[in-house]
Amino acid sequence: MKVRHTGSSLTDVSADLLVVCVHGAPSRSEIVKELDAALEGRLLARVKALGMEGKPGESATVYSGDALSAEHLRIVGAGPEKDFRPAALKDMAADAVRAGGKLGAKTVVFALPAGAAQDLERATELAATGAQLGAYRFDKYRHQSKKPPLSVGDVQIATAAAAPSSKAPTARALTGAVRRGEAISQAVAQARDFVNIPAGDMTPAKLATEARAIARKHGLTAKVLGAAECKRLGMGMFLDVAKGSAREPKFIHLVYKPKSKPKKRVALVGKGIMFDSGGYSLKPTSGMLEMKADMSGAAAVIAAMGAVAALKVPYEVHAIAACCENMISGEAYKLGDVIKGMDGTTVEVTNTDAEGRLTLGDAITYARQKVKPDQIFDFATLTGACMVALGPYTAAVLSNDDDLAEKWLEASRAAGEDMWQMPLNTKLGEQLKSPIADMKNAGDRFGGAITAGLFLKNFVKDSPWVHVDIAGPATSSREQGAWSQGGTGFSVATIAEYLRD
Ligand code: BES
Ligand code: MN
Ligand code: ZN
Repeated sequence: MKVRHTGSSLTDVSADLLVVCVHGAPSRSEIVKELDAALEGRLLARVKALGMEGKPGESATVYSGDALSAEHLRIVGAGPEKDFRPAALKDMAADAVRAGGKLGAKTVVFALPAGAAQDLERATELAATGAQLGAYRFDKYRHQSKKPPLSVGDVQIATAAAAPSSKAPTARALTGAVRRGEAISQAVAQARDFVNIPAGDMTPAKLATEARAIARKHGLTAKVLGAAECKRLGMGMFLDVAKGSAREPKFIHLVYKPKSKPKKRVALVGKGIMFDSGGYSLKPTSGMLEMKADMSGAAAVIAAMGAVAALKVPYEVHAIAACCENMISGEAYKLGDVIKGMDGTTVEVTNTDAEGRLTLGDAITYARQKVKPDQIFDFATLTGACMVALGPYTAAVLSNDDDLAEKWLEASRAAGEDMWQMPLNTKLGEQLKSPIADMKNAGDRFGGAITAGLFLKNFVKDSPWVHVDIAGPATSSREQGAWSQGGTGFSVATIAEYLRD
């Protein structure tokens, strides 16, 4: 699907579907009045019949026939202009593309609302991102004849209604914005694919191959360590989680270096449990069903590297993922085992289902010792407790550096990914005290997202660090806004946003 911008006025833009975003009551919008006049009052009649007030999520669609150059016209509520958040354009543009698909439209014009005039370049980028994400399909496993084709092949982002041409950025700048949106949406789609491909196919080795392909395409350095090399490095926690699986674990490390001297070195660590059965602390079927997605953190950091390179960010960026399966077998790690991490920490395993923190602990130690980054971010579908606390749409942010956490949260708001900070209350650390080792790997039921964070903090030591628990938003039970059903690619957009100037 092609996306571009257009400066054409809405009354003579030619399209199968024209989507117009309006703030507040459509009857008070100048552009709606103008379009309504061309339609001899049919548009506002429909708006009135539907009781549409211009709230977000509301829409009215009419067939315009020959009255306009656009065959169908759809008015979409954008909420009051004063509350407008540009990131909402991602959802709106994705919906516009889907609406076009339902009408069998080939060409869709998406007209930005007035609020977009604040920063038209940024709005264009977000709309382009959303349009591409609305076109995302995962039908690799569907029979040819059952693949639903998307009719929409051309999306134009119309800027004229938002800002008069005198104030508009140059066509060149807008084209750049569309390209950036495409780079980000491509990375998000890549992460979704990694998550959606079942664990039977998306093995540690397969993800390593995919990571190498991203590196080749974008000029990154790729390093993949097998079990023997990880053993030499002393990654006992990672390898013990991997022991029950017949598939060899892979430790993936990608490096992006900017052309000029980097301002900072940033490590992005992702949880890469390709399948989490729970191990001997076995999950029930209902809880295990979605556990191919337990590598969403790894998928996000690896896929995000494509966007990092395309956006030419000014930092040196490392993506690191310790990838393996958490399985049951005669070789598997057991309850009560005491295992040893790369930094020497000994851990009593009180729950084999608290495996992510073990693999992440070693990945963080590797980052700290081998990369020596200025900042460490980790992304993990780490705890069910996080979903109990914040619900399925919001990620938890835990950090040992409040200023860094605030900068990260700011990026998440700009990117339109919902995140909320939780306290790393050290009092809860009592839950992780072991009678025989340095730590236990699991606490009790209360404060589960926090004790998991405290566990990781032990490996981070004094490095400035932000932990992002994406157990909720990593997957979605249904298509909604820019999200598709299944993997959402959550975190990729915020990573890209954070690492830009
Ligand atoms: N991968 C799960 C967490 C998870 C659960 C992610 C549901 C997404 C949806 C993680 O490895 C896990 O099993 N955590 C345990 C920790 C507990 C044993 C301390 C949990 O949350 O129950
Ligand atoms: Mn688990
Ligand atoms: Zn897990």
